[in-house]
Amino acid sequence: MATDNLGLEFSASRPETAAGFEAAMDEYMVFTGEPMHRLKDAAVADPEFALGYCLMGCLRLFAGVSGSNPQVAGELALSRDRREAANPRERAHIDAFETAAGGEMSKAGAMWDAILADHPHDMMAAKCAHEAYFLVGESANLRDSVAAILPAWDESLPYYGFLLGMGAFGYEETGEYEVAEEMGRRAVEIEPADCWAVHAVAHVLQMQGRRRDGIGWLDGTVRHWRDKMWLKGHLWWHLSIQLIEDGQIDRVLQIFDDYISDCDEDQVTRLMDCSSLLLRLELAGVEVGERWHQVVPKWLKHMDEHAIGFTDAHLALTLARAGEDDRLAEFFRSLNAYIEAQDNTNQGILARTGRDLCHGMAAFARGDYTTAADRIHPVHDDIWNIGGSNAQRQMFTLTLVKALLRSERFAEALQIVELWATEVPAPSLWRDLAEALEGTGHADGAVAARRHATELAN
Ligand SMILES: [Fe+2]
Repeated sequence: MATDNLGLEFSASRPETAAGFEAAMDEYMVFTGEPMHRLKDAAVADPEFALGYCLMGCLRLFAGVSGSNPQVAGELALSRDRREAANPRERAHIDAFETAAGGEMSKAGAMWDAILADHPHDMMAAKCAHEAYFLVGESANLRDSVAAILPAWDESLPYYGFLLGMGAFGYEETGEYEVAEEMGRRAVEIEPADCWAVHAVAHVLQMQGRRRDGIGWLDGTVRHWRDKMWLKGHLWWHLSIQLIEDGQIDRVLQIFDDYISDCDEDQVTRLMDCSSLLLRLELAGVEVGERWHQVVPKWLKHMDEHAIGFTDAHLALTLARAGEDDRLAEFFRSLNAYIEAQDNTNQGILARTGRDLCHGMAAFARGDYTTAADRIHPVHDDIWNIGGSNAQRQMFTLTLVKALLRSERFAEALQIVELWATEVPAPSLWRDLAEALEGTGHADGAVAARRHATELAN
């Protein structure tokens, strides 16, 4: 047995294992370094180290691959081999990993929360629960998982600032922006390298339409996150969304080319940033050239994974925008086969919501706006369940609004955009609102909305 830097006992037979595990956790906190290599080195050298393969497999799942990934399957088998000799906490971790790999992220999140009820300082459990709830869009659980253990923490413990950063993101996703911003800024004060806390504050600023604050916040912290390989692309994405709204299109294209499109094929979350940003540019009327074709080869490895609906919707969109019709048909055959063959929560979400969304996004990409609206609108209220954040899922709502406007279903578009524009001072929303008002015969309202959009843009 060894003891980690938070006082938790874990199975290990070599002193180097503890150092390897702690270094991997340190790197995981700041989304940099090589936590996988550290864990693997420790696990290969120490057959008693039960958490090594377990955390490796979890990290792969959280990066966006599914349990069918051969590396995840291998790590699950190796984790199971170590289960019997492990302590009860480690066994619970291995069971939660197995549940997550089986497409049951919500249940896995609850299993990690159960570990936290007994071991509130188990940062690995806290991070895993956080990631699992995020992947299924369960924002209240995301918030409550951290809120439940925060009273057991204080600044004397390692990772306290990071826990605040996670709490900030939970509060942001439940729309409690004031608490989220305060907590996130405090987390960054304690630990400037905490790019997840930087990210939580960026979310608040984006959701509130505070684009100049958002640009200033990310430009002002870039030195702390520009080398954080797992999150930097996504933070560039957040900055780009604000820059698009600010009309700084050339800078966004440069950011895409220099910092976002350089991900590798296993970084699925970063691939989604690529596709999402290209669509957000196009929705703003920007020509993106050959960039869709550049990202297609990296997506192809994930055609049969169906890890979550959020990923599949980006994949379908990308294939359709790149004109890859045969591959798109192949993707839908694979998705249908997955839905037929599986019987888990992820399959249910894909069957109820994800598949229609994929068809809708592909239709939009091909310019078939009526089909896009027909497929997306009925599932729009359930899209939260496919995973991703509120800010990321806005892409689907914006696509739906454009599809409704372009197929002249102005009343439906108005219903979605009216309240949203009232709450968020974004010029693009006010332009969409103007178009919807004009189409529904509210000429004066349209003129006023267009004028307000111009004021907001300046
Ligand atoms: Fe984000």
